[in-house]
Amino acid sequence: MIRVENLVYRYDAGAPDCLQGISLDIEDGAHTALIGPNGCGKTTLIKHLNALLFPRAGTVCVDGMMTTDVSSVREIRRRVGMVFQNPDSQIVGMTVEEDVAFGPGNLALPSAEIRRRVDECLAMVGMTGFEKRAPHSLSGGEKRLLSIAGVLAMNPRYIAFDEPTAYLDPAGKQRVLEIIRRLNRAGMAIIHIAHDMRDVAEADRVVFLDRGQVLRTGTPAEVFEKADLLIAVGLDGLPGGCGS
Ligand SMILES: Nc1ncnc2c1ncn2[C@@H]1O[C@H](COP(=O)(O)OP(=O)(O)OP(=O)(O)O)[C@@H](O)[C@H]1O
Ligand SMILES: [Mg+2]
Repeated sequence: MIRVENLVYRYDAGAPDCLQGISLDIEDGAHTALIGPNGCGKTTLIKHLNALLFPRAGTVCVDGMMTTDVSSVREIRRRVGMVFQNPDSQIVGMTVEEDVAFGPGNLALPSAEIRRRVDECLAMVGMTGFEKRAPHSLSGGEKRLLSIAGVLAMNPRYIAFDEPTAYLDPAGKQRVLEIIRRLNRAGMAIIHIAHDMRDVAEADRVVFLDRGQVLRTGTPAEVFEKADLLIAVGLDGLPGGCGS
């Protein structure tokens, strides 16, 4: 599991803390949704889960390894995959297959195993046949799928998705949500930042952040019960609320 304890963070000395003492457990195999208004710290929080950022105070512990332990960072980054909001930021290869092979290539795996992972992960996101395409020639939705395949190729235990359905049309959204559902059913722990409540109705647990603090946590039904509060911070897709 991933255990976050009293996590405090600020980007610049002198700036206010944008995470103000967050405590959170992410259980093995659970689907954890992270919601909250723009700027509340969702992206900053998930960047702590795979040692892209380090706490100013408090700790983040992944399967017993502290993210601040330099000798653990490599393994933590392998175990905790990140699908960022902008897929362009994750493209590294000249072709789709090269892009997916990049991560496993860095693990010094045998080439047959890398090939197997590339084929399997492209199939998993429905991108078989795109192997030789240039990533920059793909549509936004296809790039999103490619970035998911690249993360899957590392064989992670946890994947954090930062607003994975943003900018997608309804069919593209459904495709991504179905992939997330399938991965979760197969036992992968999912951390899912969402702006639309309908995207996280199936989550095991919803964590509602506001101004760097956990305001509420519980099942979707428990958290969405007090719809007024969520509408007040501008979240979409509440039953009977705005945007639904
Ligand atoms: N690189 C950075 N340098 C300085 N401040 C930053 C940086 N990234 C984020 N911040 C600030 O930290 C706070 C939290 O930002 P963060 O991106 O984590 O919010 P978020 O909940 O993901 O928002 P959104 O829903 O808009 O993606 C915001 O006040 C933001 O302005
Ligand atoms: Mg964000």
